[in-house]
Amino acid sequence: MSDLSAWHDAWAGVAAAAVSDAVASHGLAVGARVLDVGTGGGVALPALANAVGPDGRVVGIDIEASSVALARRRVGDYPTISLEARDVGSVIGTTAPGSVDAIWAGDVLWRNYFDNPADLVRRLVGLLAPGGILAVFTGNWYSSRFLYGHPELERRVLAASARRWAVAHDGDATHHEHAPAWLEAAGLREVRMQIYPMVGTATGSNWVEWQRYLQVGVWPDYLAAVRAHAPDVGMEAADAGRLEALITPGTPRYLPAQPGYVAFQPAMLVAGRRCSAQGTRNAHSETHYGIYAFTPASPLALVDPGVDRFTGTMVFLESHKRNEFLVPPARDWADVARFGDCRRPCCCRPSCRSGCCCWCTLASPAIAMPACCAMSPASP
Ligand SMILES: C[S@@+](CC[C@H](N)C(=O)[O-])C[C@H]1O[C@@H](n2cnc3c(N)ncnc32)[C@H](O)[C@@H]1O
Repeated sequence: MSDLSAWHDAWAGVAAAAVSDAVASHGLAVGARVLDVGTGGGVALPALANAVGPDGRVVGIDIEASSVALARRRVGDYPTISLEARDVGSVIGTTAPGSVDAIWAGDVLWRNYFDNPADLVRRLVGLLAPGGILAVFTGNWYSSRFLYGHPELERRVLAASARRWAVAHDGDATHHEHAPAWLEAAGLREVRMQIYPMVGTATGSNWVEWQRYLQVGVWPDYLAAVRAHAPDVGMEAADAGRLEALITPGTPRYLPAQPGYVAFQPAMLVAGRRCSAQGTRNAHSETHYGIYAFTPASPLALVDPGVDRFTGTMVFLESHKRNEFLVPPARDWADVARFGDCRRPCCCRPSCRSGCCCWCTLASPAIAMPACCAMSPASP
């Protein structure tokens, strides 16, 4: 068995239950079309296929043909699962927008795979049908506790591991802990994060799987990370020696053999939903969802506001219906105010006709206006 295959098998042994719970939390619709991006050893495939049932379809893709072979071995000839050795970029380029109901991305939106995971999220979201789900699952390795009882040593070892895998630094937006922000920026709604604790203890039902995972997956990474990066994370030779004693099976200090040992990995799921399409609507009712229109004021309104204040300037436009203009301000005027709505042009017109223009302009409006207003075409 290759290292890769052993690693994926060991991971599946401890993670399958958490992955199943995470998949189940979405209530994927029976018959849904699902894409598993970077399927690796295919740990999520059985849970996804069970969720969508015999009428659904799950496509697992991975850039590595060796991973696809592992996934194929895991799922056998599950009729609703198909597997392809492809880069996710080419899959996005050849998949119709809106043709996928759910996308599962397990431990793949990492900076060491993609320079710009937020951009990949945005492109993946383009494949989702309205109401579709993007689920980003991570084992959350860097929040794990495998050296239980040795927190300081473990912090340094994890820092060395982060350097080994070129995990983004604090505050860098490509760090996988920014997944909720990536989903929101891509326009997904109902974005939520949930933790699925994976716990290994000597009394647990999957202790055999945990021991294998520690020996095949965790301890080799810890040793390689410390060998390469101990000085960078402030570890001295004595620390490295201490680590080796704690993680070498069969030695008296082997940590998982100590009473009360607990291994803990808080797997994390961040998921969001693309906005649903609006349900079926009655076509006739829909035409009545109109808009408001406003008549613009003409520059001449400075001299004479015309009839706008009596007719209103706002109208609701909708299909096959002629609406009245709405809310003319004059409606709320007291009678006296309406009576006194006089303007210079309306005063001048009759005055000029009778040859008294000069008199009118100079005269007190209190005298001239009542007669003019009665003749004003703007009066209601
Ligand atoms: C850490 S593994 C996770 C595997 C699996 N999803 C799981 O949860 O166990 C990441 C996988 O993503 C695949 N991968 C990386 N870059 C990819 C790309 N551009 N397109 C498709 N798969 C990719 C890797 O080959 C690897 O199998």
